[in-house]
Amino acid sequence: MVSARMAGNHSFPKMGIWNNSGQAGYNSQLRACAAPIRAPSNRNHSRTLMKVGIPIEVMEGETRVAATPEMVKKLCALGLSVLVQKNAGIASHFTDDAYHRAGAEVVDNAQALGADIVFKVRKPNSDEIGRMKNGAVLLSMMDLCHSDSTLDQLAATGVDSFALELIPRISRAQAMDVLSSQSNIAGYRAVLEAARLYGRFFPMMMTSAGSAKPTRVVVLGAGVAGLQAIATARRLGAQVAAYDVRPEVKEQIMSLGAKFIEFDLGESGAGTGGYARQLSAEAQSKQQQLLTDELKKADVIISTALIPCKPAPVLVTEQAVEGMNQGSVIIDMAAATGGNCPLTEANKTVIKHGVILCGITNFPALMPGDASAFYSRNIFNFISLLIVTTDGQLQMKDYLEDEITASSLVTYKGTVRFKDKK
Ligand SMILES: NC(=O)c1ccc[n+]([C@@H]2O[C@H](COP(=O)([O-])OP(=O)(O)OC[C@H]3O[C@@H](n4cnc5c(N)ncnc54)[C@H](O)[C@@H]3O)[C@@H](O)[C@H]2O)c1
Repeated sequence: MVSARMAGNHSFPKMGIWNNSGQAGYNSQLRACAAPIRAPSNRNHSRTLMKVGIPIEVMEGETRVAATPEMVKKLCALGLSVLVQKNAGIASHFTDDAYHRAGAEVVDNAQALGADIVFKVRKPNSDEIGRMKNGAVLLSMMDLCHSDSTLDQLAATGVDSFALELIPRISRAQAMDVLSSQSNIAGYRAVLEAARLYGRFFPMMMTSAGSAKPTRVVVLGAGVAGLQAIATARRLGAQVAAYDVRPEVKEQIMSLGAKFIEFDLGESGAGTGGYARQLSAEAQSKQQQLLTDELKKADVIISTALIPCKPAPVLVTEQAVEGMNQGSVIIDMAAATGGNCPLTEANKTVIKHGVILCGITNFPALMPGDASAFYSRNIFNFISLLIVTTDGQLQMKDYLEDEITASSLVTYKGTVRFKDKK
């Protein structure tokens, strides 16, 4: 949808022959990657060459990279010049050579962070912000529910930043929706982790040495990750039941071949924008009691229940864990925000009451190849929306003109635009 619109509205100029130092290019790849481009139209910059920087991700355990070689080629075709930090793609198995062949220049950290537009997966730390320049544009996930000084520092440095998790979940923005692309991967990988930790078959198995019953999987929360977990567990042959506090997901759950666990809590859990809202204390306790009996029957629980910027709701009580069979598995995908089970320990796998509890907080990082490929496609579609051709030259559009860019713009012209919704 986005590319069709792009094709309709934008006519990109013939590529120039500039490399990153502004001199004539030394190979055809770099020539394709370096048209002269004007700086953002809403600033009075005199730069004529716009560079995109891809630094290495420094957060512990992060294996993703914000642009794959395939996307570098597309960025070059848009007329941008791409600077990839040495080894930025190594953890996701994209070599410097692959980036170079795609048209990027392989550079050091300071050059990648000093670019006109910086793509990142995780929000920059103070050191990284210190290497960014006044007037730069940052596209990244920003982890906005954890208040810290990141946005203040970005604004003070004069960086205009977009928090990609704030892209509105409207159909026009689906191809840019990083939350969906990464949650989808997480839901799939969580089920594989459960299958790895569970000491039994998922499908029913009949052999000459005996038969095995299918595993009973319960998925809690049927958003993007939960629905993918249901589909993956079904593909592995498990019997699946699922629960969500938003009643409208019943049909989606059933269409994937899972049973819908239904309770009357006396109030709706549906919040705004398709998200859940926090239940009253009374409804929460009723929900825990009703779920406890269902959960004792589960061999595997994949819990994905989240409420934006709030602690994760407790759905799996200690009593439910005690009632589960020895060797059962709980994959608590809400571990980063406190967990759906109070016994979960973030970033650890522990055994409590004979049940294996897994608190991995970054499942996409366990599938960095596809996670980076999807993320970088999302980011490419987003940057394509920001760039327009005027008088035969590529320019940045007015960020405030479009709902998608306006809603995700968190620092702008030296000020913090994001209003903390906690
Ligand atoms: N482009 C689009 O239109 C688009 C794209 C992606 C997602 N969406 C919608 O966005 C919404 C949020 O999806 P998400 O994956 O980001 O969700 P999420 O990660 O915020 O939450 C995961 C799930 O947990 C559920 N949950 C929260 N509290 C619960 C509780 N106490 N008990 C049981 N379940 C509980 C939520 O209802 C949600 O389904 C969904 O409605 C989804 O369909 C729309």
